Amino acid sequence: MSNDHPIAVSARKVDMAFGLGEAKVTALKQADFSARRGELIMLVGPSGCGKTTLLSVIAGTLTPQAGEIEVFGQRLDGLSQEALTAFRQKNLGFVFQSFNLIPTLTVIENVMVPLLIQGMKHSLARAKAVAILEQVGLKGREESSPNALSGGQQQRVAIARALVHEPPLLICDEPTSALDKDTGAQIMQMIRDLSRSPNRCVVVVTHDFRIFRFADRIAEMEDGRISRVVDDPSTLEIQPHL
Ligand SMILES: Nc1ncnc2c1ncn2[C@@H]1O[C@H](COP(=O)(O)OP(=O)(O)OP(=O)(O)O)[C@@H](O)[C@H]1O
Ligand SMILES: [Mg+2]
Repeated sequence: MSNDHPIAVSARKVDMAFGLGEAKVTALKQADFSARRGELIMLVGPSGCGKTTLLSVIAGTLTPQAGEIEVFGQRLDGLSQEALTAFRQKNLGFVFQSFNLIPTLTVIENVMVPLLIQGMKHSLARAKAVAILEQVGLKGREESSPNALSGGQQQRVAIARALVHEPPLLICDEPTSALDKDTGAQIMQMIRDLSRSPNRCVVVVTHDFRIFRFADRIAEMEDGRISRVVDDPSTLEIQPHL
């Protein structure tokens, strides 16, 4: 990964706190983060250091108290909720830490949602959802309810839903947490392959040191900010505590 790949995502001096007064929790403190076009960058750090909060800010689902956010040349801070929603629908795929599948829809219906929102014809959306479900190893489970699936299967539905509309920015929060080693490696290979375009960028939060080898860079986070960025993760000693 060359250092001169243009920036896809940048967050500058972001402050994000939850609650007020005694109950106030500061999740991001003047956090700076950037990800380049064509790369897969991982974000690691202890529980509670602000990883999910940072992802939500760059995804435009959480509005910080301060800071500038830019995604593929578009400033997100200052956009109206309507404009942010439209931006997300077109540009963003998000694999949530808690999956967030819709329990009243079948597996295939969950995966079709991002396509139908964009106005795609039902038959084409269905065909695309069938194909991506097969890619994540869930052929035959299309008509199941998400609640009838194992945790790892649900996680793969969430990944299929995030990928199906081929979003320029893919954000994954612990995408392999419920997967065995081989399935996790297959999914990461797929995610890495699709990061390889100047019009794409993938940000992955993980505690899973077995998948560090799929990263172009690893950003370490500590207490609400990025503390270090490792440019060549192959030189990184495996640190299972991360
Ligand atoms: N909606 C919220 N309301 C109040 N506090 C919150 C909220 N979301 C996050 N926080 C707090 O902000 C801090 C950062 O949380 P965050 O979820 O970003 O951590 P994380 O690094 O993703 O942790 P984990 O590895 O456990 O997922 C924590 O102290 C958390 O309790
Ligand atoms: Mg988290």
